[in-house]
Amino acid sequence: MSLNKLLSPVTIGSVAPENRVVMAPLTRNRAAQPGDVPGAMNVRYYEQRAGAGLIVTEGTQISRQGQGYFATADIYTDEQEAGWAEVVKTVHAKGGKMSLQLWHVGRVSHRLVQENMQVPVAPSAIRAENTAVFVKHGDGSFGMVPADEPRALDAAELPVILRQYVEAAKRARRAGFDMVEVHAANGYLLHQFLATGTNLRTDAYGGSVEKRARFVVEVVEAVAGVFGADRVGVRVSPNVVAFGMSDSEAQASTLHLATHLERLGIAYIHIAEPDWVGGEALSDDFRAELRAIYGGKIIVAGNYTPETAEERLEKGQADAIAFGRPFLANPDLVERFRPGGPLNTPDAATFFGGGEAGYTDYPTLDSALVSPE
Ligand SMILES: Cc1cc2nc3c(=O)[nH]c(=O)nc-3n(C[C@H](O)[C@H](O)[C@H](O)COP(=O)(O)O)c2cc1C
Repeated sequence: MSLNKLLSPVTIGSVAPENRVVMAPLTRNRAAQPGDVPGAMNVRYYEQRAGAGLIVTEGTQISRQGQGYFATADIYTDEQEAGWAEVVKTVHAKGGKMSLQLWHVGRVSHRLVQENMQVPVAPSAIRAENTAVFVKHGDGSFGMVPADEPRALDAAELPVILRQYVEAAKRARRAGFDMVEVHAANGYLLHQFLATGTNLRTDAYGGSVEKRARFVVEVVEAVAGVFGADRVGVRVSPNVVAFGMSDSEAQASTLHLATHLERLGIAYIHIAEPDWVGGEALSDDFRAELRAIYGGKIIVAGNYTPETAEERLEKGQADAIAFGRPFLANPDLVERFRPGGPLNTPDAATFFGGGEAGYTDYPTLDSALVSPE
């Protein structure tokens, strides 16, 4: 099957990726310690994957409070900003483009990850069921623990978090990123505001879909004020039920949010489809409705192969396809797509945490061909 569309250029807002193969955001828990600073190993990892039309970085915390797991990347200190600047410079030198994913985990956290053992925060005090987070214990050992029960954010705290998004966006701009992606997916803070099951607020930020979407819209608008709407994307995950999420109006919430993103002129919507973690698949009707409401670019992710990706593009239901696990295991994924494979298999045991093994040592097609057997 030809991959004419997938390998063709595309314009997303004011950014022009050379192909429609996007690297999906992938948390890898390998930021240098102490300080969660992107270091030389992270530079190498992203440089190897610069052949993507657009790289969306791993979720990157906007604040200390926004952290849910040990050794995830941040962008709220000068050192972190400088670390990211090095990553971007290296990827740009290889012709790649980068969008930084701005992240606040909300309730998907634990006191052991928070500063001074503070309780994690959320729109409402509801624990994420069946959700574990990766922590460092007091004795220095590591392990998974169930997410803590959060406390509900006071409305007066929301402008503070909003400013942290703005400050993080300013740092991302200074670090040279082409775009930023507001993470409103996969059960984290902004998704918690949007969904009926996690937002039981009775103030201006809860209740109707308009009110549940309000904080997300405020954040996106503020970030667009820094970067320009034509360099901002938003990730959503309607129907995803992992991380204890439930939303009785999941698709309606997303479509409502999309009307605001259209009004603001946001460059792209990135849909994390439910296939990989569970949840009802998105319907053709939903995809058509989203297209009708929203004129920006649509990126989709979730279990795609080059063939299903090409098909989705052919049908006009998306403008680019993001690949997560395939990119994790195949630094030269685009080069492998051209001749049609073969692909390395991702090793789930090394997804989260560790060193170069399972991170920067997946072979490229070239190196595999020349390696002695
Ligand atoms: C190891 C791993 C880490 C992930 N980290 C993030 C993340 O930081 N932000 C995010 O929005 N999605 C994250 N995801 C979801 C992926 O972006 C993507 O939606 C998912 O892997 C499905 O795509 P795939 O089938 O091509 O892997 C992660 C997935 C995996 C496997």
